[in-house]
Amino acid sequence: MGPPDVEIVLDEAAIDETVDRLASRISADFSDGVVLAGVLRGSVPFLSDLVRRLTIRPLVDFVAITPYAPNTGRVRLLKDLDIDVAGREVVVIEDIVDTGLTTAFLLGEIRRRQPARVAVCTLVDRPARRVVPVELDYVGVEIPDVFVVGYGLDHEGRYRNVRVLAVADRDLLAADPDAYVAALYPA
Ligand code: PRP
Repeated sequence: MGPPDVEIVLDEAAIDETVDRLASRISADFSDGVVLAGVLRGSVPFLSDLVRRLTIRPLVDFVAITPYAPNTGRVRLLKDLDIDVAGREVVVIEDIVDTGLTTAFLLGEIRRRQPARVAVCTLVDRPARRVVPVELDYVGVEIPDVFVVGYGLDHEGRYRNVRVLAVADRDLLAADPDAYVAALYPA
């Protein structure tokens, strides 16, 4: 059996255009400076490209979230921001917002610290799976209820460094986590 066909959601050119568009908007909206709060680990490629396209001078920090226990839907901070965001403007940078639980939790944590403003920027929005409503200020692409990998998004740690964002079949990945290696890592 050959490699599965892949449907590309964003190719490299579309990723460039998307990141350019978001960077322009954030640069315009936060001319007085901003703290970018990247959510580890999926946001790293996106944040890395985004930050270099901003025409403002941001501070960059990271948070890491982990489930309290499997399938509880509850999360906790594994790594907090190092920067004190009180009185500052903050943009949370996500690779994907799915159920919204991670974003809602983070917004609650950050708002308790009384920032001047907090906004959310996500490369991918998958609203079909939303459990908690969250307001997203900057969205790269909205997708239907499909599983996607690449450009930071993983399956069991794989595919994060793929240069495109691609749809992957969950059943194929469940049978073989490497099912898309040949298709997404061209020789
Ligand atoms: C992903 C993504 C978001 C979260 C979104 O992280 O980076 O943080 O899930 O899902 P939600 O809207 O349902 O809460 P993941 O737990 O896969 O960790 P990773 O970024 O390290 O891959």
